[in-house]
Amino acid sequence: MGHRVAPTTPNLDPNSLARFVDPLPLPIIAQPVDYRPAPDHSGERVPFYRVTMQAIRRKIHRDLPATTLWSYGGSVPGPMFDTRSGQGVLIEWANELPARHFLPIDHSLHGAERDKPEVRAVVHLHGGKTPPEGDGYPEDWYVPGQSRTYYYPNQQEPALLWYHDHAMGINRLNIYAGLLGLYVIRDAVEDALHLPSGKYEVPLVLMDRDLRPDGQLSYPVSPDPERPWVPEAFGEAHLINGKLFPYLDVEARKYRIRILNGANGRFYRLSLSPNLDMHQIGTDQGLLPAPVTMKHLQLAPGERADVVIDFAELRGTNMLLMSEAFTLMQFRVASTPAPEEGNLPATLRPVPRIAESQAILTRRLTLDEQLNMVSESMGMLLNKTPWHMPITEKPKLNSVEIWELVNLTDDVHPIHLHMVRFQILDRRRFDAFEYMTKGNLRFLGPAMAPESNELGWKDTARVNAKTVTRIIVPFVGYPGRYVWHCHILEHEDNEMMRPYEVMTT
Ligand code: C2O
Ligand code: CU
Ligand code: CU
Repeated sequence: MGHRVAPTTPNLDPNSLARFVDPLPLPIIAQPVDYRPAPDHSGERVPFYRVTMQAIRRKIHRDLPATTLWSYGGSVPGPMFDTRSGQGVLIEWANELPARHFLPIDHSLHGAERDKPEVRAVVHLHGGKTPPEGDGYPEDWYVPGQSRTYYYPNQQEPALLWYHDHAMGINRLNIYAGLLGLYVIRDAVEDALHLPSGKYEVPLVLMDRDLRPDGQLSYPVSPDPERPWVPEAFGEAHLINGKLFPYLDVEARKYRIRILNGANGRFYRLSLSPNLDMHQIGTDQGLLPAPVTMKHLQLAPGERADVVIDFAELRGTNMLLMSEAFTLMQFRVASTPAPEEGNLPATLRPVPRIAESQAILTRRLTLDEQLNMVSESMGMLLNKTPWHMPITEKPKLNSVEIWELVNLTDDVHPIHLHMVRFQILDRRRFDAFEYMTKGNLRFLGPAMAPESNELGWKDTARVNAKTVTRIIVPFVGYPGRYVWHCHILEHEDNEMMRPYEVMTT
């Protein structure tokens, strides 16, 4: 990508540390502090939570000094919200962060100029069908000492969502600092499937970080101190629920493992060692129609996977969760047999495919790369349009549209739309040079169906290099202003994000 990396003091080599000396931490479950009237005038009283964003120091490995992090509610990841479909919740998000940032702000990025306060935050519930005033619009940031209370109606099917920072121009730094957490929605239909639950349901938040030898976070910078932004940040240290190389004692039975790729830019390609099957039962927006058995699971930043792993065969042994050559964590399987009721259901929850004929509009939207002559770095854009330009995508409420995402770049970009869920129609290679020179879309092969583990509802889709990815999107929910963007946070912070507006007329 033609960017240079500044020589800095070498980061800590995580492989110099002892493995599997810390137990896997499990997120604490958020508890309401009160019940308050829902703002939707239903008169119903709903749980009210209060979460503070605050700096903390936490040991991410037994043999490292405590690391400074920014947390929701005192832990990274933050407390997990355990909610029910159709039952709204109110959350007050209080910004009690320090006045100074500890990661390298690039003031040349739009929205992060020197006249903006250094520390700003706003929370977005990723995957939430949230009214626009509570969606965490990137420009709705607020400073330390302030708070906002957002209403999440939960008028949507069960899924593993996540909340994270979305402040314009510094979102990559705020999330890197630790501002992310999980939010689960459940319902009776899902309960009736009797999937592994309670202590047999384990959430895993994956994220990669670079650490200095003293255990502090290190975020990469360009050689230009005026423009420290880098096009992507990959770390060598993989934190699982905030720990490096943790272990988890498991019984010799099935577990439901719910995984979030919370990394800034890394794509995980997960496998087990020994090479046991994983049964994927759900994706970003809930259950798949049927389990999909796999040995490798690819997860782009922002994507989630709901997976069942049966440890019964591995009684008395240890197993590793890997991503390519990286070791992420260890499962220690008990040697005693663990009785359990029932098998994994053969069917889960129907996901009727949306007919293309339902779409009233097809939008062709490009993913572009352009060389910034000033910084000599590659910038990414959506539809060649920077953030501040007038809104161009204005779908009608309750209409269905097809978005053809034409990736002219050499990278995979995970594209995410706020508020809605969608289905992936297909992917097709095309001649990008011909498109760029003549504006002509010439395909180079047949349309490829989505992977079998993508046949559920999605909110983030991998748009492969030099490929057109088509998604079909029912704009059901709330009218108002939202955003869509690449979920590689470095891209998102540097113009690979656009507003869109759901219209009532
Ligand atoms: Cu994960 Cu704009 O969000
Ligand atoms: Cu989102
Ligand atoms: Cu991108």
